[in-house]
Amino acid sequence: MATFLVTGANRGIGLEFCRKLKERGDNVIATCRSTSKELDGIGVCVKQHVDLTSSKSVAKLIEKLEGMNINGLILNAGILEKNDFLDLDPDSIRKQFEVNALSPLCFTRAISNHLCEGSKVIFITSRMGSIADNASGGSYGYRMSKVALCMAGKSLAIDLKARGIAVALLHPGLVSTRMTRFTPNGITAAQSVTSLIERINELNLENSGSFWHANGEILPW
Ligand SMILES: NC(=O)c1ccc[n+]([C@@H]2O[C@H](COP(=O)([O-])OP(=O)(O)OC[C@H]3O[C@@H](n4cnc5c(N)ncnc54)[C@H](OP(=O)(O)O)[C@@H]3O)[C@@H](O)[C@H]2O)c1
Repeated sequence: MATFLVTGANRGIGLEFCRKLKERGDNVIATCRSTSKELDGIGVCVKQHVDLTSSKSVAKLIEKLEGMNINGLILNAGILEKNDFLDLDPDSIRKQFEVNALSPLCFTRAISNHLCEGSKVIFITSRMGSIADNASGGSYGYRMSKVALCMAGKSLAIDLKARGIAVALLHPGLVSTRMTRFTPNGITAAQSVTSLIERINELNLENSGSFWHANGEILPW
């Protein structure tokens, strides 16, 4: 039985990761700022009051992991704020950098003593962080933060290889969650996570550091 830790587990894609990993028999540590009825109903180990931008709250969480190995670390929590060129809000852009790019990296560093040979680190990024794929512009804070996250994941893949730890950058597809205002054009979180778990199963040291769509397509940087 593998142990997975999922951030942003109270709703959306993170919640669905917890549900599906638990269903297949994995041990799941679900971290969130505050839990939800849905998360409490799954029967996983819920750790509340974990704000990824607070090193104190992350340190408190890690204290509680006492000698536990994490086989799968899913850095899923993220935010999307609108930033048009004519309506730039630098504070909003900084916040997205902090939550979407810097926090997953710092969290991985803080928890790295709990990773072991064979562990997998998953950064949930976005196709909107692909420079080559950007055909619509805008979304400055979100796009810039996800590009930065991709770069952090690529460096991590190199730095953690010697320890036998693989890293993936995964785009979940367009998913109907609160982030996308439950767009009717999106797939469900359950559909997305089924595919994301297939990608995680396929992740190894040879393909570590790649940027994948949940459907298995390799995305351009
Ligand atoms: N939905 C899509 O179409 C789509 C597409 C591409 C990429 N993604 C990525 O997929 C991931 C999950 O998105 P989603 O669609 O499931 O969005 P969501 O429903 O809005 O969920 C976002 C999660 O992130 C958590 N979070 C935000 N800021 C946090 C912080 N400072 N500390 C801890 N947790 C924090 C939220 O917790 P609270 O409830 O406490 O706010 C929530 O659990 C994100 O990284 C997103 O960028 C989504």
